[in-house]
Amino acid sequence: MTHYSMYINGEWVGKDYETKAVINPANQKEVGTVPNGGKDDTTRAIDAAHKAFQSWSRTTAYERADYLEKFYHLILDHEEDLAKTMTIEMGKPINESRGEVNYAASFIKWFAEEGKRIYGETIPAHVDGKRLQVWKKPVGVVASITPWNFPAAMLTRKMGPALAAGCTIVIKPSSDSPITAIKLMELCEKAGFPKGVVNLVTGPSSEIGDTVMSDKRVRKVTFTGSTEVGKTLIRQSADDVKNLSLELGGHAPLIVLDDANVGVAVKGVMASKFRNAGQTCICANRVYVQSGIYDKFVEKFSEAVTKLKVGDGLNEEVDIGPLINKAGLEKVQHHVDNAVNSGASVVVGGKTREEGEGVFYEPTVLKDVDPNMVIMNEETFGPVAPVQKIETDAEAVKLANDTEYGLAAYVFTENVARGMQLIEQLEYGIVGWNDGGPSAAQVPFGGFKESGIGREGGHEGIEAFIESQYVSIGMN
Ligand code: SIN
Repeated sequence: MTHYSMYINGEWVGKDYETKAVINPANQKEVGTVPNGGKDDTTRAIDAAHKAFQSWSRTTAYERADYLEKFYHLILDHEEDLAKTMTIEMGKPINESRGEVNYAASFIKWFAEEGKRIYGETIPAHVDGKRLQVWKKPVGVVASITPWNFPAAMLTRKMGPALAAGCTIVIKPSSDSPITAIKLMELCEKAGFPKGVVNLVTGPSSEIGDTVMSDKRVRKVTFTGSTEVGKTLIRQSADDVKNLSLELGGHAPLIVLDDANVGVAVKGVMASKFRNAGQTCICANRVYVQSGIYDKFVEKFSEAVTKLKVGDGLNEEVDIGPLINKAGLEKVQHHVDNAVNSGASVVVGGKTREEGEGVFYEPTVLKDVDPNMVIMNEETFGPVAPVQKIETDAEAVKLANDTEYGLAAYVFTENVARGMQLIEQLEYGIVGWNDGGPSAAQVPFGGFKESGIGREGGHEGIEAFIESQYVSIGMN
């Protein structure tokens, strides 16, 4: 059993600490242990990041890009080890884990390049003898709090732009999947980032979170996780007006109109719904299908779902791994039970899967669902697709927007004008049109309403780590 350490100021810390076990959800066995770090470790990490910021922020974008490029290549060189680590600590099927390693690396590559394009501005003056300029500055020390469902990509989507902009960083990975993040720190060390530029602390979220939120030297917090925790961070950030980027919950609608290509729609919903066993913020959570195509869609979709193989993600054949823990499984079962008790019928699945000690749920299709069921209103985070029959485009828009969330939505139609009119009315930050997998490093990822603040990825992803400094220069 390996005991992993925290990475603070270029040193591996916490070998003799009390530990927390990381559990493989496929078999409930211990994968390794990490230190139970706390307030003092977090403060030391902030000290180190604050000191390192003084020099890192003065390096050129080209120097920073060189470090990031090295890191990028190291991630790709270690694809298999990182992918296996991810699979055993949080259950993702190995092929998806390999995909995530590449997705994670793509953020480092994109932002290594994008850092060279942090341009300032010269603005025409309103009087003679003045030059008006906007200079761009890194925001300062950043704290990054990342979730268990994408242990590599959600971290690099934050690290890439922060480091490229000239910020230094203190990372708090999820306690459910910290080992992938620790292995990324090993690669940062190999890439040669100066001491204190990148730091990682493991331990209870409340202690580490409270410490970064109450330390004035931390100028920005970037978080992916639940809307509930996001709201707490907003409250905690008020005292010293910390800059926040929040990527929070979702409840994605997926709309299939009568004129959709059924094959394309089924492929799209399979990709969106069952990625990571339904445990992503942008997974389709509710499927609305127009009446003329409903029966055919449910038949073809259910056929495809029946073929999905459930099991330990290390098995190359597996499509659906375990859920993260028993609480996750119970939530999924509650959503299904509530729907069935309120009149929905199970077409495929509908129950837990006994596989040793693992926490598995059968990929499930429900039909005859209605808008009042819990599953049509709360994020399920599991492999269950409820399908509701609808009649009109207006009904689709009304149902889709009837939520506090606004992260991702999906629309399937072959009619361009109809698709555009419908999408224009959707209150969502991301829309997949005939596409169940819209994520990429070069595009803005983030939500409307209670799904978050700000965008990650794309050129907007780096602006989140930059302050504009307006300089008015008198020439006389
Ligand atoms: C998430 O679930 O938060 C991230 C999904 C993605 O980047 O595609």
